[in-house]
Amino acid sequence: MSTDSEKQDFKGFIAKIKEGIDSVKDAKGTVLCISHIDADGLTSAGIIGKALHRANIQYQVRGVRQLELPIISELSMLKNIKNFIFSDLGGGQIEGINKYLSDRNILILDHHPVITPPKSKSIINVNPFPYNYDGSHQVSGSGISYFFAKTLDPKNIDSAAIAVVGALADRQDKGEKNSLTDLNRIIVKDGIKAGVLEENMDIRLFGRETRRIYQALEYTTDPFYPGLTGDGDMCIRFMRDTGIPQQKGDKWRTIQDLSEEERRTLVQALLTYGLQMGMSAEDAQSILGKVYTLTNEKPGTLLRDAREFGSLLNSCGRLGATGIAIGICMGERKFLLQEAETIMKEYRKKISQFLELVTLDSEHVKEYNNLIVFDGKDVIDDTMIGTIISIAISTKSFADKKKPLIGIAESNDGTVKVSCRGTGPLVAMGLDLGLALRGAVESIGSNAEGGGHNIAAGARIPQGTEQLLFENLNIAIEKQLKKDEAESKKQSSTKKAVKKPKTTTTKTTK
Ligand code: C5P
Ligand code: C5P
Ligand code: ZN
Repeated sequence: MSTDSEKQDFKGFIAKIKEGIDSVKDAKGTVLCISHIDADGLTSAGIIGKALHRANIQYQVRGVRQLELPIISELSMLKNIKNFIFSDLGGGQIEGINKYLSDRNILILDHHPVITPPKSKSIINVNPFPYNYDGSHQVSGSGISYFFAKTLDPKNIDSAAIAVVGALADRQDKGEKNSLTDLNRIIVKDGIKAGVLEENMDIRLFGRETRRIYQALEYTTDPFYPGLTGDGDMCIRFMRDTGIPQQKGDKWRTIQDLSEEERRTLVQALLTYGLQMGMSAEDAQSILGKVYTLTNEKPGTLLRDAREFGSLLNSCGRLGATGIAIGICMGERKFLLQEAETIMKEYRKKISQFLELVTLDSEHVKEYNNLIVFDGKDVIDDTMIGTIISIAISTKSFADKKKPLIGIAESNDGTVKVSCRGTGPLVAMGLDLGLALRGAVESIGSNAEGGGHNIAAGARIPQGTEQLLFENLNIAIEKQLKKDEAESKKQSSTKKAVKKPKTTTTKTTK
């Protein structure tokens, strides 16, 4: 049962959304929706697009890599567009919006921390933080877009499953057994009620619907199985030893094809193996967790399991096929799905090539006192550096270092893309990468910009300023971790460590 103050928070959040709805309903001409090109941004765009279509509001959707100043300035040249919606971005870029777009009607549906408040009444900023929801794990861009859609028309509750895809892709499954909590929980319940979603406890190997079981095991990095993760031959051997038939006729079976008995056998084998290899009981047991199924999608497709769906969208966004991804989120199929599958194969190939460069002893990797840098140079696409370091930091050798991982990649416009990733335990110790990066970027000057969450942040800086950035980040992160250490020493030693990522504005999770 929620408390009175929690009810007030929710009411306040919905009231703000209603303000935004009023402004969109009054729109004259086309509403231009600008969204992020990651899976959370693409699902946001799909949910908003579908809702505006249903409401007979004229709209266009576009994906951008980030709402950087040059992009905001470019948007301001579109004089015939009076209404913009920004989703999964914008909250951290209100300074630029104030500067270039304060004469337009702006609706921001974002979950990133807000640095500068809007300076005009025509800029409506819907954000979870003022209502005591933590945007890093209690609601994502797609979730905020979902609440917008549902408040506009209750029929849009059928978009709940797509919103869950976005939240999972942003790694918001920080609840018990990898579940979604808080505002995300409301969306899960709506999805179940609408008959578009199921939530079950199952084996959390990646690719439950589409991959051969040994491949799912090979590609899963969370949990990380020393000796199995990343090693196909060992996974084939491991699966053979379980005695579980891998094929039915000449068709390879997937996790979804396993019987209850076979599922139990596999879980037991993985538990025993994990413990033998020195995994903690908690890590070993994390093989079982919450999985989310889009019940209206065909079994055996990439759209049936919410986490696989997210990774399909991410591939499309990162390789420039945003139209295909948004179309799929809005319910279009036909050839789109086939095209998306081809893109995903290409994307996976690139990821595995790139990951080979990310090892602790690689010439691309340099360790500082408080961080590790991976320099992707001009070898790694700037749209993929974030994904690469997200995977790398969840592998054992990097996680064991207990330092955030900073990835950089050169772009062909004279800038460098920076992506930073932390871990739950580091955030619990005081790490806030968004804050550290913003500070480090400010010291470079006005031609650099960055921001993000405590656990994941990004920036774009001019080529040649990388070293300065690393040094500034190194100092900022040291202060964050030391300060927290000093504070926790002051407090009573009986206080339990918080494991999930939180900021000071975090609402207690039930
Ligand atoms: O812009 P946005 O908030 O949508 O992106 C969040 C990013 O942070 C995603 O790329 C997500 O995968 C990443 N993330 C991560 N590890 C976490 C939490 C988030 O890599 N533990
Ligand atoms: O780009 P990347 O995936 O590394 O971004 C990590 C997080 O930082 C995302 O949530 C992204 O939206 C955010 N970010 C930001 N401002 C930037 C770049 C990234 O808020 N200039
Ligand atoms: Zn997001």
